[in-house]
Amino acid sequence: MPKVEQPTSLSKSMPAVEPSGGSLPKFLQDNGLTPECRDLTTSLPSERGWVADHLFQYQGFWHHVRQLQGVLTCQNHFQAQDSDILLVSTPKAGTTWLKAITFALVNRFLYVDHPQQHPLLTNNPHELVPFLELKLYVENQVPDLSTLPSPRIFSTHLPCVSLPTSVKDSACKLVYLCRNPKDTFVSLWHFTNKLRPAEMGENSLEEAFDKFCRGVSLYGPFWDHVLGYWEASLECPKRVMFLKYEEMKEEPKVHLRRLAEFLGCPFSPEEESQGLVDCILKLCSFDNLSNLEVNKKGKMSSGEEYKAFFRRGEVGDSANHLTEEMIRRLDEITEQKLHGSKLKL
Ligand code: A3P
Repeated sequence: MPKVEQPTSLSKSMPAVEPSGGSLPKFLQDNGLTPECRDLTTSLPSERGWVADHLFQYQGFWHHVRQLQGVLTCQNHFQAQDSDILLVSTPKAGTTWLKAITFALVNRFLYVDHPQQHPLLTNNPHELVPFLELKLYVENQVPDLSTLPSPRIFSTHLPCVSLPTSVKDSACKLVYLCRNPKDTFVSLWHFTNKLRPAEMGENSLEEAFDKFCRGVSLYGPFWDHVLGYWEASLECPKRVMFLKYEEMKEEPKVHLRRLAEFLGCPFSPEEESQGLVDCILKLCSFDNLSNLEVNKKGKMSSGEEYKAFFRRGEVGDSANHLTEEMIRRLDEITEQKLHGSKLKL
C-alpha cells in the first residue's frame, strides 16, 4: 500500500483583502476574509456563537466567520480524486478517533514495519488527517494537494448539502461518523468552554442547550447534518458509509473490519492471524492516545490544545450533566426529526 504523506506547506495563497477600517464590525475585520465572504455575511442570518464570535447560517447550517471562509474556499477550489477518503462528522462525534483508526488502517504497513515509530505515537490525528475547511483551506489559502500520494485522507464537518461539487462528482469514499445528540451536546459544551477566553467565563449549560436544541451550534442543526449523510448512505452505500460512535465502542473489531472492507483494503487471513485488528484498535484507543506526550502537551496551529480533544471518551456521560427535562426535550426533538427515516440514535 502506498505511504500517505500529508501536506506540510501551503503552496499557493490568494491575496488577502485589507479590511476597510473602523466601519466594519470587529469580527469582519479579519485579513483572511475575501470580499465574497464579507459580502455574504451581510445577507446571512446570524446569532451569537458559543465561543467569542458570531455564527452565520449558510446553506442551512451554522458557521463562525473564519470557518465560513474555509467553507467557501474549499467549495470553490477543492478537487476531489476518485481514490480520496473523506472522513465526515459533526463536531464531537469522535472525529479524532475515526481519524486515528482510518490512518492506521490505510497505512498499516507502518505498524507492521516499525511499530515503535508509528506516526500516531508522535503526531496528533488531526495533523495526520487534516480538516479541509478548518486547516487546509483556512482563511483564503488554496493549497496544492494534487501531488499527494493516494489514497489521500481528509476530513470535514461540512454538511452534505455544502460538499464541494468535485466530491459529489467523483467516486471518492465518504465515511460518516455520528454520535447520539445528548453526548454530542455535552462534549461540545465542555469543548467550547475550554476555547472561551478566560474573561468571558463559561457558557452556561442552559444557554448552550437552548442553542443546540434550536439547531444553532457549529455545523448545526445537528439532526439535519446527520440525516443528510444517512440518506446519502442509503442512496449510495458503496460511496458513503455510516458509522455510529456507540456501535464502534460496543464492537470495535466488527466496525474496523467493516471499514476496511468498505475502503477496499480488507484484512487478509494472515493479518487477522497476526492480530493486526487488535493492534490498530489498541494504538488508537482513548487510553493510549490521550496518554501520549504529544496529545498531552501539543497544540494545533490554530491554538487549540490537543488534550481538549480527549475528555472521557465514554457513552452516556450526558446523564451526568443533563436534567431529566433536558433529556426528555432532546429525545423528543430527535424523535421528531428522525421520524420516518428508520435511523435510531
Ligand atoms: P467526550 O467529550 O464525550 O469525552 P471529536 O474528536 O469529534 O472532537 O470528539 C471528541 C470526543 O471523542 C470526546 O468525547 C473525546 O473524549 C472522544 N474521543 C477522543 N478520542 C477518542 C478515542 N480514541 N476513542 C474514543 N473516544 C475518543
